[in-house]
Amino acid sequence: MSTSINIALMIGSLRKESINRKFAEFIAAQMPDSVTIKEVHIADLPLYNQDYDDTTIDSYERVRQQLKNADAVLIVTPEHNRTMPAALKNVIDIGSRPYKENVWTHKKVAVVTASPGSFGGINSGLDVRKSMQMLSAQMMIDPEIHLSRATDSLNEDGSVSPRTQKFLQRFVRDFVDFAGNTSE
Ligand SMILES: Cc1cc2nc3c(=O)[nH]c(=O)nc-3n(C[C@H](O)[C@H](O)[C@H](O)COP(=O)(O)O)c2cc1C
Repeated sequence: MSTSINIALMIGSLRKESINRKFAEFIAAQMPDSVTIKEVHIADLPLYNQDYDDTTIDSYERVRQQLKNADAVLIVTPEHNRTMPAALKNVIDIGSRPYKENVWTHKKVAVVTASPGSFGGINSGLDVRKSMQMLSAQMMIDPEIHLSRATDSLNEDGSVSPRTQKFLQRFVRDFVDFAGNTSE
């Protein structure tokens, strides 16, 4: 029997030089062979509008299908004005509709935030948790990962500093346990 785990990765920043993307890429590279991790691209998604519920929008179908097929979703995101970025909220809304076709129901979800500031984007992470709770997702509770002063954890070439590497490698082990645990 196959024990492979499919992870959908969503990055809340659309910025080319995103620090969150750099951490997400490091995390993705640490996944064991039993894990397949694929990014769910969110930059091209039109702003969610309930009028679209009765129509087919290819990019909406693409992300809904990717999220449906995933055993777990990993969100790595910055904080924008004390909450999650609009592009991330948009894909969460798209996945939640049409009504009764909510892809988040029972979906395993973990969130990592990173910010150059002292609070590590924690409010963004908390707001993701709030939406996911409402949508009946199964959030990974422990550990909570909010990387503060995150630019200090990146070397000039964009690689992750050894201390943060260790920290994120521990997170990956916990996340893979969470994603692969079918009894939860
Ligand atoms: C519109 C906007 C709002 C921001 N608001 C916050 C904030 O509330 N908290 C915070 O820690 N950083 C805030 N920042 C700074 C971001 O943390 C910083 O730009 C970070 O590099 C964004 O992540 P990224 O590099 O992955 O895009 C904000 C940045 C922008 C562009």
